[in-house]
Amino acid sequence: MAPKTKVGVIGAGGIFWAYAEGCRGFDILDLAAVADIDMARAEAKAQEFGIPRACSVDEVLADPEIEIVINLTVPAVHAEVSQAILAAGKHAYSEKPLAVDRAEGQRLLEFAAARGLRIGGAPDTFLGGGHQTCRKLIDDGWIGKPVAGVAFVAGRGPEAWHPNPDFFYKRGGGPLFDMGVYYITALVNLLGPVREVRGVAKASFPERIAGSPEQRGRRIAVEIPTHVTALLEFANGAVITFISSFDVWANHLPAIEIYGSEGSLSVPDPNGFGGPVQLFRPENDGWCELPLTHNPHVQRGIGVADMASALRSGRPHRASGALAYHVLDVMQSIGEAAASGGVVKPASTCDRPAPLPLGVRQGEIGD
Ligand SMILES: NC(=O)c1ccc[n+]([C@@H]2O[C@H](COP(=O)([O-])OP(=O)(O)OC[C@H]3O[C@@H](n4cnc5c(N)ncnc54)[C@H](O)[C@@H]3O)[C@@H](O)[C@H]2O)c1
Repeated sequence: MAPKTKVGVIGAGGIFWAYAEGCRGFDILDLAAVADIDMARAEAKAQEFGIPRACSVDEVLADPEIEIVINLTVPAVHAEVSQAILAAGKHAYSEKPLAVDRAEGQRLLEFAAARGLRIGGAPDTFLGGGHQTCRKLIDDGWIGKPVAGVAFVAGRGPEAWHPNPDFFYKRGGGPLFDMGVYYITALVNLLGPVREVRGVAKASFPERIAGSPEQRGRRIAVEIPTHVTALLEFANGAVITFISSFDVWANHLPAIEIYGSEGSLSVPDPNGFGGPVQLFRPENDGWCELPLTHNPHVQRGIGVADMASALRSGRPHRASGALAYHVLDVMQSIGEAAASGGVVKPASTCDRPAPLPLGVRQGEIGD
């Protein structure tokens, strides 16, 4: 078996478990160390998940064997931490968002390019079996030309359960940057880049009440819009109606539907890796659920495995900096369109990531 790629993690918080389990699912990855500014957290996660080493951020960055460092810190420091990873000569894979604004994101891409290093990041759910199946159905023409669609993610916010919920209500958080990012990334994978956006955004409630056992009753000031409605016009001509909200108790909205000239596609929730995938074609009697063409039994970390595999073969990695930057640009553009009441054209664009190959064995990525 080829040698594994040693990976370190900075940030031992709530989402660490998903990466610990997800990376373990890929033959190419060896999760060798976990670091945090709070050493006790790093030690606790190392013990809980059997990671060989808990260490300081400086130690993980100084380890010559570690090639890729995963940045699982809070959004406000994503850019600063990713830059430190790159400055240490390592490839950086960041949780979403890539950065809190275009200027930070652009600096990161330039910093990585100048050093010949890879940068990329979450979400990588578009690499799951559900979304890869949808991508294949669209590319193979099953709904004809995509002309329109909807994408919805609406809940009441994460403060009820998250032990450190403040970052969700600060710059870089909110329903768009925290959850909408999955939907926009999934749509770019399916349809290509976004050409222009319109938006309306508001904060319906000035403060939130934490509900986790550690913080119950603590008040959190809301600093960003918590209900964002947008119209996204894609370069391929499709128009998507999009809502991301932390202001909604319950709804019956679909996750994503794409409407094409020859049929409709019901796309699974892009906050997961599986199905269901449903197709409507006029010659059939109603919607039919289709078997998945790709593996849904993966976790967060498939994007890291893909980066590690791409480093060996020299091909582009799929959860790329260019994709994450375009999605960041689109999200910032929605905010600007909402503030101005006008239309904003994102300056960036990106290629659709290459689809994953068919027939790949569990634990492998395929090139
Ligand atoms: N919790 C989830 O369900 C979830 C799901 C998907 C993605 N994410 C994303 O993952 C990231 C982390 O979320 P979380 O829920 O794990 O947050 P968290 O607050 O639970 O954990 C963040 C960790 O980063 C550490 N940290 C902060 N600044 C640091 C720095 N400068 N250097 C080193 N360590 C630092 C903190 O001490 C903390 O342990 C966010 O970008 C979030 O959007 C979270």
